[in-house]
Amino acid sequence: MKLAIIGTGYVGLPTGVGFAELGTNVVCVDKIPAKIDCLNRGELTLFEDGLDELFRKNVASGKIRFTLDMQSAVSGADVVMLAVGTPPHPVTKEADLQYIYAAAKELAQYLDRYTVVATKSTVPVGTGDEIEKIIHEVNPSADFDVVSIPEFLREGFAIHDFFNPDRIVIGANSERAKEVMRKLYAPFVDKCSFLWVKRRSSETIKYASNAFLAMKIHYINEMADFCEKSGADIREVAKGMGLDTRIGNKFLNPGPGYGGSCFPKDTNAMAQMGRKYGSILSLIETTIAKNDERKAKMGQRVIDTIKSNPEGKIAVLGLAFKGGTDDCRESPAIDIVKEMIKHSHNICVYDPKAMQNAKAILGDNVKYAASMYDACENADVMVILTEWEDFKYIDLSSIKQKMHSAKIVDLRNIIDGQKAVELGFEYQCVGKA
Ligand SMILES: NC(=O)c1ccc[n+]([C@@H]2O[C@H](COP(=O)([O-])OP(=O)(O)OC[C@H]3O[C@@H](n4cnc5c(N)ncnc54)[C@H](O)[C@@H]3O)[C@@H](O)[C@H]2O)c1
Repeated sequence: MKLAIIGTGYVGLPTGVGFAELGTNVVCVDKIPAKIDCLNRGELTLFEDGLDELFRKNVASGKIRFTLDMQSAVSGADVVMLAVGTPPHPVTKEADLQYIYAAAKELAQYLDRYTVVATKSTVPVGTGDEIEKIIHEVNPSADFDVVSIPEFLREGFAIHDFFNPDRIVIGANSERAKEVMRKLYAPFVDKCSFLWVKRRSSETIKYASNAFLAMKIHYINEMADFCEKSGADIREVAKGMGLDTRIGNKFLNPGPGYGGSCFPKDTNAMAQMGRKYGSILSLIETTIAKNDERKAKMGQRVIDTIKSNPEGKIAVLGLAFKGGTDDCRESPAIDIVKEMIKHSHNICVYDPKAMQNAKAILGDNVKYAASMYDACENADVMVILTEWEDFKYIDLSSIKQKMHSAKIVDLRNIIDGQKAVELGFEYQCVGKA
């Protein structure tokens, strides 16, 4: 079976490597020459746990290759997967489909046998119909079907999630397309549930799921605010809630607000779709507004700790939108640092993987440290913005000796607060007074 993947980013690359590992012949296309050159030199273009080893192995065996040439990728393919970006439109915030439509137009010219065009990108309901129209217009004799196969992998766990999905949702309106997808996904048959649905349902499932998770984060953040005022402890409250199997214990960690390349854009796109279809999604609308407010509030919370010494140094640990990734897109950490930059010129940042991506956004407005310990040298407050394992086990005694004032703002609740207090730190976390 030949699989072509268009778009070699956070979704396309791990997916391509995963299918190659399962024995499929994979060709990954991208339009950025530097990316393809890099991959063809045997170097990865992004960080994902466990990707490196599988990438090297499958490049060496020839199961996966990388190209700029759409024709050589699409020609003869059984399945062409679209994994290009669907970023938010800068003004309307709805999903910008220009990359999807451009890719559909381009691939349409090279369909030379029955091919399933499978949309992995997150796209609004009805996009499959548009892709179908575009391909018909460009190549009226093309023999194809368009299916929706939404991606649920978590960045930082992309390889784990590829091989161990909770479910595989396939939105297909034709039996012939279902047959091809059954073959491609045959290795997963005994591993997880398969849900075969209408294409429009599949497109909606992805947005409805991400919006629900974002709401769950917003909910626990609001509860954390309540706990801070009422004398309860959010960790105990979340644990008590999570033991109820109807609620589940995932996504109940309070923090600085959700971010990343998916939740902000997908909640906005879902809200926009609600408006478009005259069915206002009020819970999602509120979640979006409150999450934005939260990031500003958290930045202010840090600034308040240096009120008596506005020139004081702020050491920021964590820039990626979550641990395990170098991705800074819509990272709450970045938004909070931006908020702090409005009030402070003395900010020093560190992240184990995301320094390069963060530099491209924050530029010269902050200093960059070589390690978490360097960042804390002479600092007046240490702020934790991303839940990296390294930060959890930071040597608090040695940090205390390096810092000018012993203050910690732990917006991820990962430090042992009791120990910090025993060592003489002024310690603030989320959801506990
Ligand atoms: N990142 C995630 O964790 C995640 C999870 C689930 C779903 N998704 C969805 O998957 C899609 C892709 O996300 P991503 O994070 O991988 O994006 P990305 O920006 O990392 O990668 C997209 C790639 O597509 C390439 N591209 C764009 N147009 C192209 C074209 N015409 N031909 C060839 N290549 C082209 C870009 O150069 C880029 O390398 C989005 O719709 C996103 O919402 C992402």
